[in-house]
Amino acid sequence: MRGAIEGERKQVSVLFCDIVASSALVGELGPEEFHLVIDRFFRDALTEVHRYEGTINQFLGDGFMALFGAPMAHEDHARRAVLAALGIAARAEVKVRIGINSGLVVVGAIGDDLRVDYTAFGDTTVLAARLQAAAAPGAVLVSRQTAGLVSGYFQVEEVAPVKVKERTVYPLRVMGLGTRTARIASGDEMSPFTGRDHELAELQRALEVTADGEGQVIGVAGDPGLGKSRLALEFCRLAEPDVAVLEGRCLSYGASIAYLPLFELVRNACGITADDSPELAARKIELKIKALELDVSLAHYLRHAFGLPAGDPALAALDPRIIRARTFGALSRLLVAQAGHRPMVMLVEDLHWIDQTSEEFLAGFVNELPSVPVMLLATYRSGYSPPWIGKSYTSQLALRPLSPAASEKIVASLLAGGDRAGASAIAERGEGNPFFLEELARANRDQTTDAAGVTVPQTVQQVLAARIDRLPADQKAAIQLAAVLGREFSLGLAEEVWDGDVPLEALLQELKGLEFLRERHGLAERTFMFSHVLTREVAYDGMLEARRRELHGQAGACVEHSQASQRFEHCELLAYHYSRSADPARAVPYLAAAADRAKDRYANEEAIRLHKEALSIVQSQAAGSERDSQELAILEAVAAPLNARYGYASPELQQTLERWIALAESLGRNDSMAAGLVALWASRFVQGRSADGYQTASRVLALVAPGSELAGHAHFAIGGSAVTLGRLVEGRRHLELAADLAGGAVWLSTGVRADVHSTAWAAHAHWLLGRDTEALSACHKAIKLARSIDDPFCLAVALAYGCITHQLRHDMSALSNNVGELRELCSSYGFAYYREWGLILDGWSHQDESGIGLAQQAISNLKVGGSFARMPYWLSLLADLLARNDRRDAARATLDDALIAARDRDDLWWLPEVMRMRAAYDEEQAAISRLRSAAQTASAQGSVALLRRCEHDLAGRGFASQPPVIP
Ligand SMILES: Nc1ncnc2c1ncn2[C@@H]1O[C@H](COP(=O)(O)OP(=O)(O)OP(=O)(O)O)[C@@H](O)[C@H]1O
Ligand SMILES: [Mg+2]
Repeated sequence: MRGAIEGERKQVSVLFCDIVASSALVGELGPEEFHLVIDRFFRDALTEVHRYEGTINQFLGDGFMALFGAPMAHEDHARRAVLAALGIAARAEVKVRIGINSGLVVVGAIGDDLRVDYTAFGDTTVLAARLQAAAAPGAVLVSRQTAGLVSGYFQVEEVAPVKVKERTVYPLRVMGLGTRTARIASGDEMSPFTGRDHELAELQRALEVTADGEGQVIGVAGDPGLGKSRLALEFCRLAEPDVAVLEGRCLSYGASIAYLPLFELVRNACGITADDSPELAARKIELKIKALELDVSLAHYLRHAFGLPAGDPALAALDPRIIRARTFGALSRLLVAQAGHRPMVMLVEDLHWIDQTSEEFLAGFVNELPSVPVMLLATYRSGYSPPWIGKSYTSQLALRPLSPAASEKIVASLLAGGDRAGASAIAERGEGNPFFLEELARANRDQTTDAAGVTVPQTVQQVLAARIDRLPADQKAAIQLAAVLGREFSLGLAEEVWDGDVPLEALLQELKGLEFLRERHGLAERTFMFSHVLTREVAYDGMLEARRRELHGQAGACVEHSQASQRFEHCELLAYHYSRSADPARAVPYLAAAADRAKDRYANEEAIRLHKEALSIVQSQAAGSERDSQELAILEAVAAPLNARYGYASPELQQTLERWIALAESLGRNDSMAAGLVALWASRFVQGRSADGYQTASRVLALVAPGSELAGHAHFAIGGSAVTLGRLVEGRRHLELAADLAGGAVWLSTGVRADVHSTAWAAHAHWLLGRDTEALSACHKAIKLARSIDDPFCLAVALAYGCITHQLRHDMSALSNNVGELRELCSSYGFAYYREWGLILDGWSHQDESGIGLAQQAISNLKVGGSFARMPYWLSLLADLLARNDRRDAARATLDDALIAARDRDDLWWLPEVMRMRAAYDEEQAAISRLRSAAQTASAQGSVALLRRCEHDLAGRGFASQPPVIP
């Protein structure tokens, strides 16, 4: 009974009830009379609470606190609490105030004696007490939480808001019963009915046989929420109006109320409504019996059975067994006569809650069916077996989960808009259970869960928790252990962690029999898994955190010991358990190993998640250099995946780098600081901070030993900046130095190999300087190198730079070859930044309207992401596309933007070309002077290639070439 001793986390409804102005009452009634009144009040209130299976938790002077849903979970705890409250208020001779709230509490017995009161802690209780104090005399106030859970079942009214601590809450007053009696009713707005054609056909076939005079019994069985009631409802809708339908239902708290579902059948047959007085109800039964031309004495038995007045007083003298037999007879005759010659469907819902008397009646009643046109249609949850199994005219429809297609249809109908990916993720989580599907979709739509739907909606939670709570203590402990181990777990590990007396395997087999678990076959290790992922989550959520941490710690230790030699093989499992244990620091090395493995699989997102988990553990530890070193190591490792996934300019990467540099500095780790600065340089550079970037790069060079690998990194950064600033000779020299110094296996902290990146970039400098052959060979060399190291991000970088080289050279076929591969790489690995390069260059290579769209989209993506480097170049490609497609005005405006971008951000290498292109839109004189100025700029940069283009245009306008440039 570990769970009960240690306490659990439960969804409950808490009811506080208090007598109004009791001290005044003592004066009024005198102490003796007062005592009697109070005594009666408590006796009646207790009866009401127990009737709905609540527990009185505490007596508080002239009132008490009661819990519904604990110690045993009830899926309808809120409804029970409100029913009990209405019952108490109606019976009390004194005025009471009642407050109810629903939510999560920690429930546990205090002391060793399990029979002592359960005590609930937390805000849920505080609010309930506060609502009680705020209630008007005679009123029942419920919180919005509670009201949401019982919506439709009661009539409620708004009342004045109530202050609780710092918050204002808006309670509702319960005025009486509402119109709803079940989760679904005809007239409700429901999701489209789907995926049950076969079952409907089966029911229709049974109805045809019934119509021929041979009654049938069909049970519809399935887990909670699988759609038993809905199937019955749709079937009845189709059958009516040719067929009469009579309906009765069992209630979750009705197992001790004899004849409950039968009374409802009779009430429906006789037209008795909820508002009818007992006298009127009795009269209606009598009228019905007469109308059906039955013996009037039958009415006495029925009224007696249902506790209605005016039964025959002589009955009291009879043997109860005789009374019962005659009552059964009377019910049978009434129901059969009601059917008459027209077929009738008698629907009895939720047989798993049936009272014993009603069950015995039905067992006998089915024997009469073969010769009357009555179809008994009963719904019940898996686990219940009806008393009539095995007769030729009885059968059972066991509902299966809905197909993925049907599931998606339900989810899509609830989600506004066409979020297909979201719909299928939810559909998967709901695993074919339409109730779960609807609730998950609603929670997602109303944003009560995050996108991944991490929390289980309360409505679903309640249903599952109630099932788990009904398990015997050993099975419950076993399912809790299983929940800690995960959706799927090995029997071996579970047995090692298990400390119960009963062998675990036997318990798991029982849970398998109850369909909580499934066994997975065909694996080397014996493995069990939860049939439904939500069951695991609910079992897990129900445990106290301390207990979960303890079990996770034990599981981690077991894996660590039994797999000592291959610990890092199991790093994901160890990281999972230790990070949830009482000592999460033990998870850090395993999280790092797991993240590395994820990165090796190019699963950058996963790697980032694991690193972040490690980070949050480390950050919560005591400050000190040990802690700082650990944090630094994680930051160093997470930068590259962050860059690949979100791009250089992402704020998250920038924050990571700034923290990295600060930590490295405070720890005196110069090399780490230099590497971090190179990454920060890249981030600033891509943000378009060219001048800033150059300074950062120079700072690195000052930090590192000349000629070292790290000096290679610094030269790379300086080289890139210099090219961009239009200092081409200087830029090329640094890039070549970088490739030499950092040759071989040296990786930049941005996740690219230094020689690949430098060589690829040097190609641009070569081309601008008029060395076309060197440009092409550097481009090929970078791509070849990248292919040889088998790293997709590195290859993406080499291809992206290569595509620019091809564009500069106007080599359309090489461009389209490489750009296709680039786009494919970026989309299959989710690379952010170079994806946009691919789009623009691909767009440009199309040269038609479709290309414009691609380029525009990508340029806007870059801007939104804060990446402004090379913007003049990208805009000039777009302008070229626009001009080719006769959109001259747009082209000219785009070139104007490019000019501004170049000057604002010192992005100067492409400026001569932008000016040259812009001259095409000028008047003759202005054009000539703009071309001359472009030629001067190109010449000052040593940009032979761009200078030639200017000269060519000037020559076209009849002007001689400029003096030669000296690179
Ligand atoms: N085939 C279906 N297509 C669309 N929606 C469905 C389907 N079956 C059930 N639903 C919806 O799913 C929800 C749950 O269904 P229902 O109430 O019939 O389940 P149940 O099996 O009777 O559950 P319980 O055992 O709790 O009574 C309802 O809102 C219902 O409208
Ligand atoms: Mg149902």
